[in-house]
Amino acid sequence: MSLLIFSCNNSNKKESTAPLKQPVQNGTVLDQNVHKLKKTLSTLKSYDSFPRHIYKDKTNWEFVKVRDWCSGFWPGTLWYAYEASKDETILKGAKQFTESLKQIAYTEARNHDIGFQIFCSYGNGYRLTGNESYKQVILDAADTLATLYNPIVGSIHSWPTRTQYPHNTIIDNMMNLELLFWAAKNGGSKSLYDIAENHAEVTMKYLVRPDSSSYHLGSFNDKTGAFVKGYTHQGYADESMWERGQAWGIYGFAFSYRETGRKDFLDTAIKLSDKFLQRLPEDGIPYWDFDDPKIPNAPKDASAAAIAACGFLELSTLVDNPQLQDTYFKAGKTLIEILSTDAYLSQSENQALLLHSTGNHPKGLEVDEPIIYADYYFMEGLMRLKTLQKS
Ligand code: GLY
Repeated sequence: MSLLIFSCNNSNKKESTAPLKQPVQNGTVLDQNVHKLKKTLSTLKSYDSFPRHIYKDKTNWEFVKVRDWCSGFWPGTLWYAYEASKDETILKGAKQFTESLKQIAYTEARNHDIGFQIFCSYGNGYRLTGNESYKQVILDAADTLATLYNPIVGSIHSWPTRTQYPHNTIIDNMMNLELLFWAAKNGGSKSLYDIAENHAEVTMKYLVRPDSSSYHLGSFNDKTGAFVKGYTHQGYADESMWERGQAWGIYGFAFSYRETGRKDFLDTAIKLSDKFLQRLPEDGIPYWDFDDPKIPNAPKDASAAAIAACGFLELSTLVDNPQLQDTYFKAGKTLIEILSTDAYLSQSENQALLLHSTGNHPKGLEVDEPIIYADYYFMEGLMRLKTLQKS
């Protein structure tokens, strides 16, 4: 992997004539982020509206409601800020935004995103406070997510509203298995573990391609369980390598190995990781799709870098071989360090922590913008690094 941070092909970098933003000063990036998040929190008055993205020429967040797939990331980001600072004002805000999401656990499952919504908010909240009422919401949310499981296919129906596929499973859905594994270990039904394990197995078998890249979506026959075809939705083409999907896979298979001990899940996490690392461009941050023919004049996706960084840091704690531990630790650390430079930190430019994420390029939505899940995984990565560096 080549990481020449400041001599890159990044089309998103400012023109050389543009004034450089100030480098980070006054404390660490984590402290600076906490300060910024607290400032943004102080401007928010409605606890059922959640920051999602910032238009390129704007400075303030655009908001979504409880049912949006991204609703859990803002409370989750506040939980990490609270963990880093122990600031009581941030704690109050984290609780207020988290508690607005409760209804997700108690209404019909609309998609697989329940894991993102509830585990980032209530999950972190329970981890940090031990609040038993949070635990109950997490357990109930896991049962709600499990209603989307099709035992014939052996996987969760990720997007029931996409009726062109009788049963579909997307690579992103790997992330939501953590909710099921956790619930099975913490008082929920043991069947949640089986569902998560089967889902990971089906994803490994059909969505991970022989070249170690991943389909975004696998379509299955819901009556026979047969795999029909792999597609993309947010990538460049069905057979291309959509980098955020690859990052979800890295992280999802890493913790699926942690929870099950299955060596094939570990091997899959390693394969996906090595492919991702091999294809990184010179500045170390992925383009939105590794196969966009417009590269190097294509947008980057800082969110994929932050998600993959968390996956690599997790993987570094799971592999036995010290050389591999070092490889994945360095890969995660390097990504977080690059995101912590002037090229990706938004600093005073807008309310977000990070610039340059790409949500849905084919639809022209959230292209080269700040997006909340980039900030969430950036904070997670910074906290992971802090913990790992201490130990
Ligand atoms: N899970 C949707 C996305 O990654 O955009």
